[in-house]
Amino acid sequence: MARFTLAHHGDMQGWQTALSQLPAATSAELFDAASVTLKLELADPAHADQMLASLQALHPWRKGPWQIGPIHIDTEWRSDWKWNRLKPIVTSLAGSRILDIGCGNGYFGWRMLAAGATEVVGIDPTLVFCMQHQAVQRYARHPRHWVLPLRIEELPLTRQFDHVFSMGVLYHRRDPLEHINSLVALTELGGMLVLETLLVDGPDSLRPNDRYARMRNVWCLPTADQIIDWLEQAGCGDITIIDVSPTLVAEQRSTAWMRFESLAEALDPTDSKRTVEGHPAPLRGIFVARPHAAK
Ligand SMILES: C[S@@+](CC[C@H](N)C(=O)[O-])C[C@H]1O[C@@H](n2cnc3c(N)ncnc32)[C@H](O)[C@@H]1O
Repeated sequence: MARFTLAHHGDMQGWQTALSQLPAATSAELFDAASVTLKLELADPAHADQMLASLQALHPWRKGPWQIGPIHIDTEWRSDWKWNRLKPIVTSLAGSRILDIGCGNGYFGWRMLAAGATEVVGIDPTLVFCMQHQAVQRYARHPRHWVLPLRIEELPLTRQFDHVFSMGVLYHRRDPLEHINSLVALTELGGMLVLETLLVDGPDSLRPNDRYARMRNVWCLPTADQIIDWLEQAGCGDITIIDVSPTLVAEQRSTAWMRFESLAEALDPTDSKRTVEGHPAPLRGIFVARPHAAK
């Protein structure tokens, strides 16, 4: 794929070298746990240091945690916390084809497969996250889990997936209703659309003039009512909110595997309920909805 070529990203050469230097394993077994775990038998146990260097070369590791052979990857996010919030719908994933939009390095895809999904297609335009997935796949060799370097705008909008997830993407889209319309267009009738987003606790949506929690690309933090209204307008029914939780510094923080600044630096040092810009601190909600046939 052209996006994995050297011409497409200045760091590609380094990432490809890191992948090619991952040490060989004589066996690999995947286990579902808070840290997605690859139990590996390295062909030469002395190569554990090389494995560490290769995985570190794929910095920053944002979504996880992971246990890859002897290496524990303590990622910026405790994504297992978000996974636990999805518990009410996890049994519905069995036997399904899933699209995960903005999937990062594919952490949730592994959890979905362990919950019985038959196939997971993740898309994410950030190439280093796709390379992290390739590092995991170098050992896991799963035939039905992809992380493709695509944006949602590049997908053909046909109903192809039983369930469609969009987690942490809506507020990065300039036109949130268009994003929700696309999610609906991709979801089979009778399937599930899972939308996780930053939101505000009313009464009005927040449209930051400049940054939100130091992020430049946040366009709108809707209220829960606004999101329900958009989902209805897009042709969904059976809408439920399965979780609303604040994001705490214990869930999103700098680590040895994500050395940039993180949530702590984005909050007001004198009032953790506010961002440094004076906005309400991050609050996230998970909405589940079912597209219905047009009337
Ligand atoms: C905040 S992260 C969320 C990652 C993961 N879904 C989660 O919930 O932890 C947003 C991800 O969306 C990706 N992204 C941004 N714009 C996108 C787009 N137009 N289409 C698909 N993914 C996009 C980013 O590269 C990033 O990895």
